This record gives sequence, C-alpha cells and structure tokens, in this order.
Amino acid sequence: MKVTVVGAGAVGASCAEYIAIKDFASEVVLIDIKEGFAEGKAMDLMQTASLNSFDTKITGTTNDYSKTAGSDIAVITSGIPRKPGMTREELISTNAGIVKSVSENLIKHSPDVIIIVVSNPMDTMTYLAHKATGLPKNRIIGMGGALDSARFKYRLAEALECPQSDVDGMVIGAHSDTGMIPLTRLATRNSVPVSKFLSDDKLTYVKEETKVGGATLTKLLGTSAWYAPGAAVSAMVQAIACDTKKMFPCSAFLSGEYGQSDIALGVPVIIGKGGIEQIVEIELDSAEQENFKTSADAVRKMNDVLTEMSVI
Ligand code: LAC
Repeated sequence: MKVTVVGAGAVGASCAEYIAIKDFASEVVLIDIKEGFAEGKAMDLMQTASLNSFDTKITGTTNDYSKTAGSDIAVITSGIPRKPGMTREELISTNAGIVKSVSENLIKHSPDVIIIVVSNPMDTMTYLAHKATGLPKNRIIGMGGALDSARFKYRLAEALECPQSDVDGMVIGAHSDTGMIPLTRLATRNSVPVSKFLSDDKLTYVKEETKVGGATLTKLLGTSAWYAPGAAVSAMVQAIACDTKKMFPCSAFLSGEYGQSDIALGVPVIIGKGGIEQIVEIELDSAEQENFKTSADAVRKMNDVLTEMSVI
C-alpha cells in the first residue's frame, strides 16, 4: 500500500507520522515544492522508526511526481493555511490553482489513486479536484467532517465531564465556521442521548465551540492546527487501506443525496478499499434540513468563484 502526502507542512507531516506509527502502509511519499523540505521531514520521521516500532518506509521528494507513481491513496494538504482572523474561504485565490495542478499531476502518475482533499476551503477544493480529474465520485473524499466530529466529541466530553470514549456524535455540512452542523440531537453518551445530561444552553455552547474549533486553534497557534487534522486524515487513509468500512462524515460529491447535486459537502459515508463505498442518508429534522441547505448554498457560491477564476 503506497500513500502519497502532498505538502510536507505541519498537517502533511503529522498525517505521515500517524500513518507510519499505525504501521499499515508499506510506503509513504512526502512531496513538497520547497527544496529539500519533504526529504528532511521524511528523514527525520524515518529516524523515529526504531523508537516507535514501525516498518513503513517514508521518503521525500521536491516536486518530482514520478516518485509518487503507483500510489493507492494520495492526500492533498498543499496550499496556504489560514492566519488568525481569516476564514477558510479567504484562501481560495491561492489554493485553487495549487489544488488543481496537484490533482492533475497525481492522476498522471497514479491513475487508480483515491484522493483525500484537506486544503481549504475544503469542500470547494474537493469539488475542484472532481472537476480537474474527472475521477469517479467514490475516489475523491474531502476531509472535514471526520475532524469536525472529533472536535465535537472533545467538546461533548468536556461538557459531560466524561472520557471521549463514552461519546459519539457527528458533524455534517460544510467545513466552515458557519456551515458546520453538529448533530446534537443524535449525539450520545453510551447510547443515551446527550440531552439527558446537558441543558439546552450547554448544548448550544458545545455546538458553537465545535463550529469555531479550527478558528480557536488558529488564534492560539498563529496558524491552523495539525495534530487533529493529521489524525483525521490518517484514520480515513487506514479505513481505505485496511478496507474497514468505517463510517465518517466526509465531503462527498452528491448526485441527489440530501436533495443536493453537483456539490461536495459533508455527509456520513462508509469508507473502504473503494473509497466512498456508500453515502448514508439519515433523516434530518426540519431545522437540520434548513441548515444543510444554507450550508450548501454558501459552498455553491464559493464553487462559483472557481468559474470566475477560470480554474474550472
Ligand atoms: C482545521 C483546518 C484543517 O479546521 O481546516 O484545522
């Protein structure tokens, strides 16, 4: 199993590290445009192999896509991250061109690859990767919901004063401060609805903190987060590599599901060796449906910018 990670910045390197530590892939190729950077990160990570007991081989390359040839899975983290006070949407003018050329380069050398998109604005970059490569919809997956759901579980456990392993919950909709929809109605603590333990005020707090989870970290760190994004991607890569059929909310290209078409947006999907093997349509209540539609409308507006920029 060969995995390429495009972008050896903090998210890309964390992702490579988590994949290696879990030891399910034979090879991880890190690729970056900055001379020597991916090679350096790969060497540093390889020097942890005997300490962290993994056999995954990590290599680095400066922009040589021939080294990525035959990848089963590729993760796109390239582009600029947001700075404090910025929205993910503000990154589109820089990141769209990068994600387009990266996607095209990847499929040139790995025609059977499954692509996971992390670059922001993520739902629009996932849509762009679809348009730029023409790959079937199961083979391009946007990483957002898996991360946002992990942040949701963190906030739920904090409010419940319980371990995160007690908690289940998911976030659908766009990977944006306003477009995320944490499904508090369906969240549980060991199968018991969380509303049994938390007041409406507490649930609203959890929901709002989840939505600005990335922004909170960007403010604290001066740049966007990397541990949880890297862990979320590595969990998705593992689901494909090990064909686990695990369910994650992810940005998937919709063709009528949830009443939406020609858009990539966060919905629950089952991930296995074929990538997105099934989009799971759950019943939303009327407020959730309304929020999902608002979220889709905002993403569609962002997607229109791609046409205005003549990227698609
Ligand atoms: C975040 C970035 C990955 O939410 O969008 O941290």
